[in-house]
Amino acid sequence: MNIIYLAITVLLLFIPIIVIIIAFFFVWHLIITRRAPFVPIPKAVLGEIVKALELRPNSVLFDLGCGDGRVLLAAQAGQPKAKFVGIDISWLPITLARWRIRLGKARNIKLTHGSFFKQDLTPATHVFTYLFPEIMNQLLPKLKQELHPGTRLVSCDFQFNELTPQRIINLNRPHKALGQRLFVYEF
Ligand SMILES: C[S@@+](CC[C@H](N)C(=O)[O-])C[C@H]1O[C@@H](n2cnc3c(N)ncnc32)[C@H](O)[C@@H]1O
Repeated sequence: MNIIYLAITVLLLFIPIIVIIIAFFFVWHLIITRRAPFVPIPKAVLGEIVKALELRPNSVLFDLGCGDGRVLLAAQAGQPKAKFVGIDISWLPITLARWRIRLGKARNIKLTHGSFFKQDLTPATHVFTYLFPEIMNQLLPKLKQELHPGTRLVSCDFQFNELTPQRIINLNRPHKALGQRLFVYEF
């Protein structure tokens, strides 16, 4: 009986500590991702993204904020000879991406844990983003400076304030579902 009381007391003490730790990581994640938290793109739209990217065997795709790597893996399946770079600032999604890519034995996908604001984007021929508008607009000057003319950028659901998309693809998804539209830009 005493052991049961002891176990319950320990549990009651530990639950608030665990809740505080989870809340701390959640708030920290929101701060470092500047309001573009990890929200994985629905698997149903991956095929449309790969199609819109129009990758070729010599393409280099950068996924800025690659999350768990699902877009990179789908794109690699569609164009296995291209090169792929994923960058994510958050520990959990980049760890998931590392596991998935290791399981998929995708050697031409390189991952970097860090901010895409600090990475050299000049090797990219193609870019994918699924980021909120505020961070997209902050990123635009860097993209304009570093991307070569002709670089294709596909953004899911969010667009730049000061750049007109070359094409808007409606994904015909259910009302309020994530992944409603793709915005295709050419730099
Ligand atoms: C909406 S999720 C998209 C994940 C993935 N691209 C997908 O489509 O499933 C946005 C991702 O961007 C990452 N992120 C936000 N700000 C970042 C930054 N400055 N540098 C790198 N990654 C960032 C977040 O950690 C998060 O995983």
